[in-house]
Amino acid sequence: MEKYYITTPIYYVNDKPHIGHAYTTILADTISRFRALIGEKPTFLTGLDEHGLKVQQAAEKNGKAPQDHCDLMAPAFIDLWKKLKINYSDFIRTTEHRHTKIVQKILKKVHESGDIYMDEYEGWYSISEERFITEKELNSGQFGQVKQIKEKNYFFRMSKYQTTLVDKIENDELLIQPKSRKNEVLGFLKNELSDLCISRPKSRLEWGIELPFDDNYVTYVWFDALINYISAIGAYSNDEQFSSLWPADVHLIGKDILTTHSVYWPTMLLSLGLPLPQRIFAHGWWLTDEQKMSKSLGNVVSPLMLIDDFGVDSVRYYLMSEMVLGMDATFSSESFEKKYNSDLANDFGNLVSRVSTLIKNNFDEKIPESSLAESDLSTNFQKIALKEQLDNLEIDRVINDIMTFIRSINVFMEQNEPWKLVKSDKGQAGNILYHCAESLRLAAVMLSPVMPSKTKDILDILGTNDVELVWGKLESGSKISISKPIFPRIS
Ligand code: ME8
Ligand code: MG
Repeated sequence: MEKYYITTPIYYVNDKPHIGHAYTTILADTISRFRALIGEKPTFLTGLDEHGLKVQQAAEKNGKAPQDHCDLMAPAFIDLWKKLKINYSDFIRTTEHRHTKIVQKILKKVHESGDIYMDEYEGWYSISEERFITEKELNSGQFGQVKQIKEKNYFFRMSKYQTTLVDKIENDELLIQPKSRKNEVLGFLKNELSDLCISRPKSRLEWGIELPFDDNYVTYVWFDALINYISAIGAYSNDEQFSSLWPADVHLIGKDILTTHSVYWPTMLLSLGLPLPQRIFAHGWWLTDEQKMSKSLGNVVSPLMLIDDFGVDSVRYYLMSEMVLGMDATFSSESFEKKYNSDLANDFGNLVSRVSTLIKNNFDEKIPESSLAESDLSTNFQKIALKEQLDNLEIDRVINDIMTFIRSINVFMEQNEPWKLVKSDKGQAGNILYHCAESLRLAAVMLSPVMPSKTKDILDILGTNDVELVWGKLESGSKISISKPIFPRIS
């Protein structure tokens, strides 16, 4: 089986997760389930970024030791992922020994190879971004709380790899998507790259991984965090596992952390002599009233509230279909309700009820026989380019195409009127209903990565557990079961 290694960012534990974090994690989960559906073996990594000033400050504010603060915060993420049906393969926390020991190994290696050196540095530091910023960035005023810092630190020779990196991005050996983000990174790389400050003196920041060659320092939060993508899969500890999974097929991120992933991370890998990830995909932001949803703005919509009101699957469906991948999207409860009622309650849910009720009343609750080899529906099904769109990560388009297919089942019903046909030509009515039921099975299977439990309920109604994406697998004669509406209307 072909492997597919997908990751999300590891989230800071300075505060509880919100819908932005939920989005990236559900997207990774959905993609990972889709890869399994087309016969691959996905490995899906997520986790938490627990070191650094932000976390240290949050812990202080709560009157806790940093590790205790992390241990208290971690369940908020893990429980939410459980609730959201996130099926990750591994969950990494950067305070775990399996991670810290690899970070130290890597630091030692890079230091020994001469790519880490000490220098004195003076400049502006952004606390919210956890990095030194340039004069130009400072003047943009976008960096919140900043302070001027002068200190001796260790630097990583990032500049040494600039030309190689530009080449690899230009020829898509490291594919950065969407295109606009690739251009943004290449634009950034037009300027001469400086070396990366990778340490913090313990006097300023305690909460980090100690440098193996100087115990007065801890490593910078990004040098630590990015390594999670390889420490979790056995880099420098389990060669067999590591070489079977690395390079990652895709790092999913939000556009806020594009530079760290597309510049810092690949140069670190180049220094280590490791292959670069195949693809970095930076999605857009969820906005409320055109503003980025963020913890500091206090305009966070709790995904938990939505789930309790409308169910997990419909929230997953909304988030996955509403955001055109790569663009920003605006969340509102009005648009949620509208989408739910039109797509799920009307188009999909009603159809399931109509088809199953007709089969119940006219075919003794059994999937009818079909002598019809082909129909508009079997043709429409063949036209869905699932694999191709998945390879392009166009999840919203995949969903849209499946919904179009579902609407074509409704049209097919209206055109053939099986409720009338049963009286004049029962055999043909059976053919029509078989084709509708089989299309519903296939639609449910194709939407199962997005809505794992509701689509299972639909397969139960159709009396099948066959998830093969091949036309005609629904067995005639199997017993259907009628249930309450799968997607009751929100009024
Ligand atoms: O940056 N819309 O963690 P973080 C969409 N620890 N996605 C959003 C979002 C929004 N409004 N807000 C957050 C960090 N996200 C680092 C990452 S990785 C080695 C280290 C999502 O807690 C999006 O995926 O600030 C974004 O990139 C991520 O959360 C940032 O999470
Ligand atoms: Mg952030």
